[in-house]
Amino acid sequence: MLKDPEVLISEQDIAARVDELAAQISSDYADEGELVLVGVLKGAFIFLADLSRRLTIPRHIEFIAVSSYEHGSVPSGAVRLVMDVRASIEGRHVLIVEDIVDTGHTLHYLINMLESRGPASVRTCALLHKEHKTEVDVEVDYLGFTIGDEWVVGYGLDLAEQDRTLPYIGVVHPDD
Ligand code: IMP
Ligand code: MG
Repeated sequence: MLKDPEVLISEQDIAARVDELAAQISSDYADEGELVLVGVLKGAFIFLADLSRRLTIPRHIEFIAVSSYEHGSVPSGAVRLVMDVRASIEGRHVLIVEDIVDTGHTLHYLINMLESRGPASVRTCALLHKEHKTEVDVEVDYLGFTIGDEWVVGYGLDLAEQDRTLPYIGVVHPDD
C-alpha cells in the first residue's frame, strides 16, 4: 500500500505563514497602486491562489511557465520559457510567486527576463527555499520557509505529477 508522505509543514503552519507574507506584501505595496503577481506554473498555483486572496491591495494575476533543460535526467541549469505572461508589465510593480527555490536558476532567469521589459520593480516571493542547494544567488524578498535538501510534495508541488494537491508539505523518501 502507498504511504502518505511524512508531514514536514502542516496545513495550519502554511496558512499562518501565508497570512504573514500577505500582510507584509500588502503593507510594503500599500502606496504603489496595482501589484502584478506572476505565478510560476505549475507548482505555484495553490500558493498564488491563497496568497492573492489574502492581499488587501489592488492586484492583477498573471501566469508564466518554464521548463529546465536536461542532459539525460540531470538539470543543466538552462531554463526555457514555455508560456509567457499575457499583459505588458512596463512601468508596473511585479512580484514573481514561486513554489520553491532549489538551485536558483529558474528564479534568476525569470528576474532577468522580466527586468528587461521595463517594469517599475521586480521582487520575488517563494514559499520554500532549499538553502544549501543554491548554485545561483537570487534574492527572495518574501520567503515562507527554509528547508533542507529533500524532495517535497503537496500544496502545489509534485513528484512526477503525484501528490500535488496534498493539503500539507510532505517529504518523499524515494526508497519507501
Ligand atoms: P531551480 O531552478 O533549481 O531553483 O528549480 C526550481 C524548480 O524545481 C521549482 O520551481 C520546482 O518546480 C522544482 N523543484 C525543486 N525542488 C523541488 C521539490 O523538492 N519538490 C518539487 N519540485 C521541486
Ligand atoms: Mg516552480
